[in-house]
Amino acid sequence: MDRIRIRGGQSLNGTIEISGAKNSALKLMAACLLTDGELSLSRSPRLADSRFLGQLLAHLGVEVEEQAGSRLRMHAANISDPFAPYDLVRKMRASFNVLGPLIAREGKAKVSLPGGCAIGARPVNLHLEALEALGAEIELEEGYVHATAPKGGLQGGRVVFPFVSVGATEHAMLAAVLAKGETVLENCAREPEIADLAGCLNAMGAKIEGAGEAVIRIQGVDRLNGTDWAVVPDRIETGTYAIAAAAAGGNVLLKDAIEDHNQALWRAMRLAGVEVEAESGGVRIKRSGPIKPVDIQTEPFPGFPTDTQAQFMALMTLADGASIIRETIFENRFMHVPELSRLGADIQVRGNEAVVRGPSKLKGAPVMATDLRASVSLVIAGLAAEGDTIVNRIYHLDRGFERLEAKLSACGADIIRESE
Ligand code: UD1
Repeated sequence: MDRIRIRGGQSLNGTIEISGAKNSALKLMAACLLTDGELSLSRSPRLADSRFLGQLLAHLGVEVEEQAGSRLRMHAANISDPFAPYDLVRKMRASFNVLGPLIAREGKAKVSLPGGCAIGARPVNLHLEALEALGAEIELEEGYVHATAPKGGLQGGRVVFPFVSVGATEHAMLAAVLAKGETVLENCAREPEIADLAGCLNAMGAKIEGAGEAVIRIQGVDRLNGTDWAVVPDRIETGTYAIAAAAAGGNVLLKDAIEDHNQALWRAMRLAGVEVEAESGGVRIKRSGPIKPVDIQTEPFPGFPTDTQAQFMALMTLADGASIIRETIFENRFMHVPELSRLGADIQVRGNEAVVRGPSKLKGAPVMATDLRASVSLVIAGLAAEGDTIVNRIYHLDRGFERLEAKLSACGADIIRESE
């Protein structure tokens, strides 16, 4: 198994090109099931998660081809069997998103329930309730969802989400685009990935209004066509490298980053003493002075993203004073705390709050990655620590960060991947 070795203490200087958003690409890939035309995605990130989903799509009968220049071509001319087996879904939760498109296109589907994951139980009740509101009949049997559309296909409906869910909002959109009549989705998630998915679906011929706002209206259409779509730049990767540059110190241009997609993080970073400037072609991050403590609380977009909470905590271990970090989205998202403590951080967890007391003089040590974003927080801490930090179990990192070592070492970090 591979691991990453970081010798800390180098500042970061240079340019990091931001890849396409993993969380957007995975839903855009599921959208290929809605058309017998070809869907071609540019700026498609090459990640373990997109490969897992590619395997599932291929199993469903889709032609999937990675092409040069980060292009991914998918052609679902025919769906051989609308069945997504456990072994392919369990590897990556977002695979569950094939359910809606399969019912919309084929009238029925059998898809494995995804199960929980390290950061929490992550149920899919809201996804299923939204599909039921469109007329799908859902039965759960032996770990599988058996779903059937009514005669004549899914029907438009009204869905009021009891709380905001990114996945359920996207899933409802993916199913409603081919339903008969109008669908109204209320209390929707407003993450940029939702507008990206709606933009691509509209380019395929769908009629979606309001994506990125709380109420989304969809007029169903009979069929969708293929299209070419560029995946939105990854705001979580952007935030991660921004925090890395702040922790290590230096001056980094995050090329292609969209400033507006990270306003809550920029606010917190500016309060911490980091310079954040939008410039043509991206966002520049500079830090040379001391880091100040800042309290944050994770929230749905446009609030502070849970997916950069672990990374921000790593930064706060270096701040001069105490900060409070409150996690409100997932119940078990502090697994990086014991690992950061191994590097010398002083963090106390009480329920969904962590109190970080800095500044800690971090010292390199072997640590273990526990989930995707937690693992990259250990890389960030390693960049700022004295000596060697070895991050084990990096398959988590490979799920969501494209060429992480290459991107960081091009800016002066001393980081290599080695085999155990
Ligand atoms: C997506 C992102 C993930 C990010 C999260 C929140 C992808 C592939 N993943 O996850 O990186 O951390 O948004 O920004 O896009 N919930 C339910 N029932 C449901 C659905 C969700 O109770 O049917 C709960 C979840 O357990 C969680 C909360 O709602 O506590 C928000 O989850 P949600 O927004 O759905 O996250 P995901 O779409 O799974």
